[in-house]
Amino acid sequence: MKKIFVIGLMLLISAFAMTAIAAQPTAPADGIKMERTKKPLVFNHSKHVWAGCAVCHHPIDGQENYVACATAGCHDVLGIKDKSINSYYQIAHKAKGAKYYTCISCHIANARDDKELQKQLAGCAKSACHS
Ligand code: HEC
Ligand code: HEC
Repeated sequence: MKKIFVIGLMLLISAFAMTAIAAQPTAPADGIKMERTKKPLVFNHSKHVWAGCAVCHHPIDGQENYVACATAGCHDVLGIKDKSINSYYQIAHKAKGAKYYTCISCHIANARDDKELQKQLAGCAKSACHS
C-alpha cells in the first residue's frame, strides 16, 4: 500500500515537472536583429541563456513572460530622451540602478577590471554590440 502511494506521488510530481518544462518556450535561434534604435545589433541567445531566462524575461504580475522587450505597454518608447521604465533605450543602456540587469549593466559587471572586455561589451562603437 505504502509503495503504491510513493509511486503515485512520484508520478504526480513528474507530471507537474513536465508541465513546468512545457510552459517555458525554447529560446529563439541566434541572429535576432534589434533595430529599433539608431545603432542596430544582433542578439544571440546562445551567448546568454547561461544567465537564466528570467534575468531578461522578468516576470510580469508574477507570471512568466517571454514577449519581446518593446511589446505595447512594456518598453515601447523609442528614442533616447525618455528616461522612464518604458524606454527601450534605457533597458539596454542604463548602467546603474535598474531593477533588472540591463544589457550594459550586466556587460559591465561581467567585464569587471578587464579594460579590453569593457570596450568589447560596453562600447558605443567598435564593440561587440555596435560597429
Ligand atoms: C540576456 C537577456 C536574455 C536572456 C537571458 C534570454 N533572453 Fe529571450 N530574448 C531576449 C531579447 C533581447 C529578445 C528579443 C526581444 C526583441 O525582439 O525585442 C528575446 C526574445 C525571446 C523570445 C521571442 C519573443 C518574441 O515574441 O519576439 C523568446 C520566446 C525568448 N526570448 C525566450 C527565451 C528563453 C526561453 C530564455 C531562457 C532559456 C531566454 N529567452 C533567455 C533576451 C534574453
Ligand atoms: C546577465 C548578463 C547579461 C545580460 C543581461 C546581457 N548580456 Fe550580452 N553578454 C554577456 C556576457 C557575459 C557576454 C560575453 C559572453 C561571450 O561572448 O561568450 C555577452 C556578450 C554579448 C554580445 C557579444 C557576443 C555576441 O553574441 O555577438 C552581444 C552582442 C551582447 N552580449 C548583446 C546583449 C544585449 C543586446 C543585451 C540586452 C538585450 C545583453 N547582451 C544582455 C552578459 C549579458
